Amino acid sequence: MKLNISGAKYSKITGIGEKIHNLEKQTGKEYIYLNQGVNNVCKININNIAKSINYNTKDIQVYPTMQGKIELRSAINKVYFDKKSDENNIIVTGGGMSGLDLTFQTIDVNHIFLPSFYWGSYLNIMKIRTIDNSFYENFDWLNNNLKILKNSAVVICDPNNPLGDKYNDSKLFKLINDLNSNGTIVIIDSPYRRVFYNDNDDFYQKIYNLENVIIIESFSKSIGLSGQRIGFIHSTNKKFISEILIRLMYATNGINAFSQILVTRILDTSEGKLAAVNFKKTTVDTIKQNIEYLKSKNLIAKRFFEKSEPKGIFTIVNKSEKELLDKRIGSVSLSFFTKKGNVDNFSRICVSVPYDKFVKFFSQF
Ligand SMILES: Cc1ncc(COP(=O)(O)O)c(C=O)c1O
Repeated sequence: MKLNISGAKYSKITGIGEKIHNLEKQTGKEYIYLNQGVNNVCKININNIAKSINYNTKDIQVYPTMQGKIELRSAINKVYFDKKSDENNIIVTGGGMSGLDLTFQTIDVNHIFLPSFYWGSYLNIMKIRTIDNSFYENFDWLNNNLKILKNSAVVICDPNNPLGDKYNDSKLFKLINDLNSNGTIVIIDSPYRRVFYNDNDDFYQKIYNLENVIIIESFSKSIGLSGQRIGFIHSTNKKFISEILIRLMYATNGINAFSQILVTRILDTSEGKLAAVNFKKTTVDTIKQNIEYLKSKNLIAKRFFEKSEPKGIFTIVNKSEKELLDKRIGSVSLSFFTKKGNVDNFSRICVSVPYDKFVKFFSQF
């Protein structure tokens, strides 16, 4: 059998999870899985919302419209764009991963620039789609190199995965405007942002109508529904949207109807909104406590937070993956997220876990 082997790699993070699971079984001791990339402080309470959905309807049992249910796109327009945008600018996708893949394969650019500390999947998608990778050092570098970026795209992930740092919003807003005016495509992939903000966050309202800005969002992190595989793409470029729609159709034949109805109810009913607000509040309060605890123990790797704040849901600690594993803490070496050298003594940990358990493990240092 002849195959087109991409050379992309299966996620190392999943492999670490399996390794810890085996260690737990072998030793009979408890481990903490901070290698993961999801909020684990609490669950969003969706039982009653899910129960209120009638499954014996065309709405659930028949193919959904390709662009996504109008009720969901309308709720997204309300919650993320204060109704300023248009439902036609929004396409519902199978999560952020699929939104990124569709976007990367559709835009025609010289390079896609990734942050120098990046989520590994960007590179793997690019490998599969045979797109060359380029990196930018930090947001200041982008500001100073607009000429180089002219026929390229830039991915902005803030708060960043893996660093978990948050850049100043007004500076970010100016940077996005400058890149847009420069003709650079700006791909906003910031699925961790809305964990920290409620519906009154007006960041997207300020940038939604910039012609070169593509917003990719996900409900995996902000409302804890990574299992539902749902997110969206927003752009005001009609040609881009219609091409994405065609590619989405032949890749998926539409996005799961149940998850679309579930997310619509979370975004657009008082019960759903309350569930989201409670989930975020407990999550964010605990993340803050965990970061403060790490600071008090001098475990945060300060050099990565000189121009930004450690916000979460990840942070970088000044311990290696091995040192952490010796204390039964699962993490991912920072070397996995960058082409830079000399970072083996640092690791990315997820700080979105219950405080008591977090302290129990880190008090060993
Ligand atoms: C930076 C970043 N973007 C996008 C995603 C995609 O998430 P999903 O496909 O679950 O929406 C992730 C998931 O870990 C991520 O870390």
